[in-house]
Amino acid sequence: MSSSSIKVRFLIDKERKRVVFVEAGSAFVDVLFSFLTLPLGSIVRLLNKQSGLVSLDNLYESVVQLDAEHLQNDACKEMLLHPWSVAARQCGNLKIKYIYELYPVLFYICRENNCLIQSTIYYAYTSTVPCGSCGNLMDFEVDWPKKILDEGGIFVNDTVDFIMTDDLRVMQSSFAKGLSILKEMQIQDASILEERVIDFGTKEALDLLKRSLISKNVLTEFCFPDACVEASGDSSSSNKDEIVAGEAEPEAENEIILELFLNKRNNEVLCAEVGEDFINFLFSFLTFPLGSALGFLSVNISHLGGCIHNLYSSAKSMSSDCFKSEICRDMLLTPKLSTFYEYKKQILKLKEGLLKEFIVSGKITGKTFIEQNPKSPKGEKDNDGAFVTSSKRFMISDNLRVTPLSLISSMCSEIDIPISELVRKEVSMDKTKSVQLKIAAGEILGIMDMLFSMNFCTMKQ
Ligand SMILES: *[C@@H]1O[C@H](CO)[C@@H](O)[C@H](O)[C@H]1NC(C)=O
Ligand SMILES: *[C@@H]1O[C@H](CO)[C@@H](O)[C@H](O)[C@H]1NC(C)=O
Ligand SMILES: [Zn+2]
Repeated sequence: MSSSSIKVRFLIDKERKRVVFVEAGSAFVDVLFSFLTLPLGSIVRLLNKQSGLVSLDNLYESVVQLDAEHLQNDACKEMLLHPWSVAARQCGNLKIKYIYELYPVLFYICRENNCLIQSTIYYAYTSTVPCGSCGNLMDFEVDWPKKILDEGGIFVNDTVDFIMTDDLRVMQSSFAKGLSILKEMQIQDASILEERVIDFGTKEALDLLKRSLISKNVLTEFCFPDACVEASGDSSSSNKDEIVAGEAEPEAENEIILELFLNKRNNEVLCAEVGEDFINFLFSFLTFPLGSALGFLSVNISHLGGCIHNLYSSAKSMSSDCFKSEICRDMLLTPKLSTFYEYKKQILKLKEGLLKEFIVSGKITGKTFIEQNPKSPKGEKDNDGAFVTSSKRFMISDNLRVTPLSLISSMCSEIDIPISELVRKEVSMDKTKSVQLKIAAGEILGIMDMLFSMNFCTMKQ
């Protein structure tokens, strides 16, 4: 698919080599806002497993490394590593096709004639799901009917012009706002300003996505990649403790218990031993769209490392005239899970998007299409929507690397402390001097928060 580009006008302070603001139309703002619709696992995938968010990358890599025997089936692994987005079809219409590889415009059905002549046809978004009628893999590609979009942009109102600051605050363009940004940046002399027009394509969009997660000077770093911009904002975990539960109301009966092993000397968490419920809970974060994840942290997201939260806050505070509709705004602020992605014991509840009817032309016109549940294609018990079904215990290291429990390997790797400490640790395990932690809202948001921090953090008990 050929990828078109978008011209964006940058206003640059050439003296201090920084971006004052950019001026862009709706097509560019749509691309930026579409970041919020991406499931966290898709972000890692798009950025080649190097999102810059170490814990998130580790979590993803843990799924890559996990043996199939621990998973409910092959499709579950695919769902975690390649989570579908409910906004995929909208995003297929973005001017920059940065997402196209991730969400190709097709789905899969069974190729058996006996199944194709039925009035109801099963389909799936991956080619790893067995057919609901005959049980063969559904691997016959069908093109998605092109989504007919109504006039006027994808998420934002296409008659509105926008400006955007270096740290991704987006607003409706006005002379007064431009002036106030100049003032904020203490620019008095217009002669240091210069205009630069930059073509944005797929590569540039991905670059922006990555920087938005880890930097506070996204546009400046984009324009002056060689200039050494001060690493802004100490994204250390110092204010982790301030995290307060957001709008999410965790449910008491879904309490999860994990066992932490501590370094006695400094009380740091070495690792946690957990069962499948916790693993499912953790892995299902990969299926959470970014906007909803930020929404859960919304009480105080300003301490996150990058500035993606500014994009979120802008979407929240901009006037409704700036959006195509409130439904479009909701797709950014509270994007839903894709169908069949919900893990029912997840403490942070996120709803699944609704199934949409398909109308397919050609040989299979006039049929009813039913999405096959990839987690239980043969109608078996779906274990509360679990991805992992295993009686094994798992270890989680401090930086969210998850592995099936092996005492030897957890003793030898991951744990970065002197041997003497290890020995002492072993002893304390024998004496079961571990700490049992019942996790509640605060800790859960703390774990979610870790996913967005660049540094290794410690889950404080
Ligand atoms: C959010 O965090 C920032 C930085 O730590 C702090 O200054 C601010 O007071 C916090 N806001 C709320 C509402 O907790
Ligand atoms: C889009 O913006 C125009 C001009 O600001 C406004 O008249 C129109 O109502 C907006 N459309 C929507 C759907 O808000
Ligand atoms: Zn079949």
